[in-house]
Amino acid sequence: MSTIILGIGGYSHDASACLIRYGRLIAAVEEERFTRLKHQPGFPHKAIEYCLKEAGITPREIDHIAFYMHPIRGFGNRIWHHVRQMPRFPIYSAGYLVEQSYRRGWAWFELNQLRKLGGGRARIHFVEHHLAHGASSFHVSPFDCAAVLVLDGLGEWTTTTLAIGEGTQLRKLREVKYPHSLGALYGSVTNHLGFKTGDEYKVMGLASFGRPIYLQEMRDLVRLRDDGTFGLNTDYFTFHVQPGRYEGYVSQMFVGRFGPPRKSDESLDQKHVDMAASLQALLEEVVLHIARYLHTETGSENLCIAGGVALNSVMNYRLATGTPFQNIYIQPTANDAGTSLGAAYYVYHAILGHPRCFVMEHAYWGPEYTDDQIHALLEECKVSYSICNDPADVAARLVAEGKIVGWFQGRLEWGPRALGSRSILADPTRPDMTDVVNKYVKHREDFRPFAPSVLEEYGDEYFVNYHPSPYMLEVFPVKPAARQKIPAVVHVDGTSRIQTVSRKTNPLYWRMIDRFRQLKGVPIVLNTSFNVRGEPIVNTPREALRCFYATGMDALVIGRYMIDKGWQPPEEGSLEPGAVGELEVLVG
Ligand SMILES: [Fe+2]
Repeated sequence: MSTIILGIGGYSHDASACLIRYGRLIAAVEEERFTRLKHQPGFPHKAIEYCLKEAGITPREIDHIAFYMHPIRGFGNRIWHHVRQMPRFPIYSAGYLVEQSYRRGWAWFELNQLRKLGGGRARIHFVEHHLAHGASSFHVSPFDCAAVLVLDGLGEWTTTTLAIGEGTQLRKLREVKYPHSLGALYGSVTNHLGFKTGDEYKVMGLASFGRPIYLQEMRDLVRLRDDGTFGLNTDYFTFHVQPGRYEGYVSQMFVGRFGPPRKSDESLDQKHVDMAASLQALLEEVVLHIARYLHTETGSENLCIAGGVALNSVMNYRLATGTPFQNIYIQPTANDAGTSLGAAYYVYHAILGHPRCFVMEHAYWGPEYTDDQIHALLEECKVSYSICNDPADVAARLVAEGKIVGWFQGRLEWGPRALGSRSILADPTRPDMTDVVNKYVKHREDFRPFAPSVLEEYGDEYFVNYHPSPYMLEVFPVKPAARQKIPAVVHVDGTSRIQTVSRKTNPLYWRMIDRFRQLKGVPIVLNTSFNVRGEPIVNTPREALRCFYATGMDALVIGRYMIDKGWQPPEEGSLEPGAVGELEVLVG
């Protein structure tokens, strides 16, 4: 019986691989975690190597290779689209077609090389991009039946898919085709506001500072259709005909109506902030329109979301609370990296017909390192360290003392958020902690908030309309009475992008936060990703050590080892002073 499937995703950006055996996920990881280049495109060689190693198999044992898109489907549309643009933009259009042809040919070549490496026995499946996205959510969700909504920039030629998932099958109901794309809409205005493609999450954070006073005008960018879909007014855009920044993605008509573009080194003024708020409001309006239609059409109480736009955590909260859907599922890698997972599960269930058997309840599917490996590294680097009886207790005490603590434990997270395996932790009760973490470690834009990890049992005390949200994919209003308790993780508009922590799925992290609760009376810590600006989240102990010493982190709890730089944070009235942890042995 065919049982081992290797999924490959995100070849154009955010490359990734996963491996499933008998329908159970064994490993899943993004290529960027190995190559150290954010959003790494191309064939995920290192991610595949890791997945095979984690499963303890060779390429000969792979039964199926599931690729995240169809290299031919939609390509005809792209050719025809750019041939029509050729007289106006000959260099871009010709270059685009050459690049696309090369990329598809090279992907096909690499897939066949991998197949040959396994003796030619594996069968290659090309899974339609939006079906891979949809399956990445529905097939690992707890629902037997659900409405499925995929929102991204562009798949083969599709930008939005409304579908229904029933058992092993995923059936499309409606599609929106390029250039009518919510991902492209958000990306174009993001670019106009002086941010790079891929920085849409920054614009979402910026939106909280503004008022949506341009919403009425921006409604002219999108037409809502009665069949639950939408269309863009393409007169306002040029992303579909030519590339570029500043002058590239929006048209002169857009500039005439909304003003000149901001350059990335220019300061942000109130107009930019209000435009971000208006764009966010427009996105939510359109997505709620689609979701309400999808609910009526499917009659399901369950909604599965996927695609790059599904990383918009403000929108996701609106979907959870502003639609008739009772339950929402989003897996942590909703963006293109998640399509390796979806392609693999689509093959397993929808093509091979195997019954459903797996629910993704956590994000810990990447590499793990033993204490022996960590110990050898610390010795090699001549680092002074302590051995902890209980890393959770040690870290909690350090955080309660006001220190910025690197936390490196267990398997690497799958997806763009650090969720308690490769995290930097700090005390959320200190109002100055946002500035401290930014100044000494993260060097992020001032307007970007930090997020909290909260014990799932206590969420209702702090957040409005609380429900578990384990992957930091929803932004909740913080209850007014709770805001002053956790000022470092409350955004300017009184919201928080929370990660709920389950005792079942990450007991060590849960215990660490619970110990912090005993020390400070708050079941919440500030959790930001273990990296510096512009780099992927650390993967190996060596990368963690490098990041620790290259930043102003105070301490690192890595496996059962602790390193403390010995810097004393300023005293704060409520802080409980005291020695660090229960240290058993001092070495080095
Ligand atoms: Fe996508």
